[in-house]
Amino acid sequence: MANNRTFTMIKPDAVANGHIGAILNDITAGGFKIVAMKYLKLTPEKAGEFYAVHKERGFYGELVSFMSSGPIVAAILEKDNAVEDFRKLIGATNPADAAEGTIRQKYAKSIDANAVHGSDSDENAEIEGNFYFTDAEKF
Ligand code: PPS
Repeated sequence: MANNRTFTMIKPDAVANGHIGAILNDITAGGFKIVAMKYLKLTPEKAGEFYAVHKERGFYGELVSFMSSGPIVAAILEKDNAVEDFRKLIGATNPADAAEGTIRQKYAKSIDANAVHGSDSDENAEIEGNFYFTDAEKF
C-alpha cells in the first residue's frame, strides 16, 4: 500500500454494542473510501497471529482472547495520508486520553476494548490488509 491506504478493524466491543453503522459513517464522513470490507470472527489462533508483534507484552493473552471473543469488521480504507489521518480520526489508544469527537472517545470504554484498530505505519497497513484480503477482494 502506498501512503494512501490504511487498515482498520471495528473490534468486538463496538460490534456488540451496535456501533458498526455509526463508526462506518464517521469513517466515510472523514473522507475515507472503503476499498475492502469483511464481517468475520477471528479464531484465537488467527488473532494471535495478527497481534504476534505484541507477543512479549503482558496484555497479549488478554488482547488475543478479546479480539476472538466476537465478530469484527475488517476493512481497507483509502485517502491521502491515510495512516496518520485515520489515527487522528480514531483518537488515542486509551479512550480516556482520546480527543473530543474521535471514534474512541465516542464509542470505546477501555484501553483493551477500544472500539477500533488503525495501522501505525504504511508498511503495517499493507501487511495487515493482506492478512485479511486477497488482491481480488480490494476495490
Ligand atoms: S499502539 O496504537 O499500537 O501504539 O498501541 P499500543 O499501546 O502499542 O497497543 C497495541 C494494541 O494492544 C492493545 N492494548 C491492550 N489490550 C489489552 N489490555 C491492555 N492493557 C492493552 N493495552 C493496549 C491496544 O488496544 C492496541 O490494539 P490495536 O488493535 O493495535 O489498536
